[in-house]
Amino acid sequence: MRVLGIESSCDETAAAVVEDAGGAFLVRSDVVSSQVELHAAYGGVVPEVASRHHLTNVAPVVAEALALGGASLQDLDGIAVTRGPGLIGALLVGVQFGKALAFARGLPLVGVNHLEGHLTSVFLRTADTDSLVVPGFPHVALLCSGGHTEIHEVSDFGRMQLLGATRDDAAGEAFDKGGKMLGLGYPGGVRIEALAQGGDPTAIRFPRSFRGDSLEFSFSGLKTALAIWLRDHGRPEGKLLSDLCASYQAAIVEVLVEKVVRAAERVRARQIVVAGGVAANQALRQRLGEEAAVAGCELFFPPLGHCTDNAAMIAAAGLVRLRRGERSGLDLNADASLALG
Ligand code: KG4
Ligand code: ZN
Repeated sequence: MRVLGIESSCDETAAAVVEDAGGAFLVRSDVVSSQVELHAAYGGVVPEVASRHHLTNVAPVVAEALALGGASLQDLDGIAVTRGPGLIGALLVGVQFGKALAFARGLPLVGVNHLEGHLTSVFLRTADTDSLVVPGFPHVALLCSGGHTEIHEVSDFGRMQLLGATRDDAAGEAFDKGGKMLGLGYPGGVRIEALAQGGDPTAIRFPRSFRGDSLEFSFSGLKTALAIWLRDHGRPEGKLLSDLCASYQAAIVEVLVEKVVRAAERVRARQIVVAGGVAANQALRQRLGEEAAVAGCELFFPPLGHCTDNAAMIAAAGLVRLRRGERSGLDLNADASLALG
């Protein structure tokens, strides 16, 4: 099967062509038009600006994905489009474009949950991947992005049970807001990670919210702790700024690592998957690598380029649903607060 995926839930307009490859998905093309620089001026995503840019970008991005994937619309077995969660105006652009294309060409259409896409991203194979080891089912997945931090027990593609989620901010949001407070600009995750290199993660003791043995997260107190530290000490420069970033990053990473390993132990899973933008973080990869080894768990991360938003993951998650015979009608609507599972 060959599926076109369309993604427009936040500040990336993306389209990709993906094919069935046994237990994995071969990425034929993968186009992402990022608006990050545009929103950086405002310190975060401005929804109306995002919608307008999706509108001008979506047609050329889809055309480019088809051309690079060597596929015309006639060669497709279906179209998968992100229907939520995300910014409603942004989502609507992709959903309406996908519906129009499917209607005009008589192609099967399926609406995909963006978070399900992230969980499928560890199964993506590119032409230059020599061998790809994919997880089996069931496994435990930590989904940590800009808008979500959740742990699921995943029993099959698109079938999962929520074990715990954040009560307030997402891990990516804690990075982004921290970066903003430090005057590092948007998005904060990558910038805090870069400054944390060479910093001492034990220099400043930020709070970790473990909530007993719960699998829920809370990052709002950490944000407040950073605000208080900056009020009392001012914004540091040089080595102390690196120490501050490393310490702040460590407080986020430590909680993520501890909770996902605890979840795997609780449901007796031997495999852990991490997905979403924060899965690109090297400190998280390293710490979880150590702890998963101690717990005897195998660990799977998507390739760096597929941690953040892309349409290949949407095409792959949609391909599974189309293969199962699932179809969305032309009444498909965007759902800004669509939940997973
Ligand atoms: O999955 P994603 O692209 O979009 C959402 O679905 O939200 O995730 C974006 C989030 C942002 O908060 C960004 O700061 C964070 O992922 N992020 C990182 C890194 N790269 C992206 N956080 C920490 N370290 C990184 N290297
Ligand atoms: Zn995302």
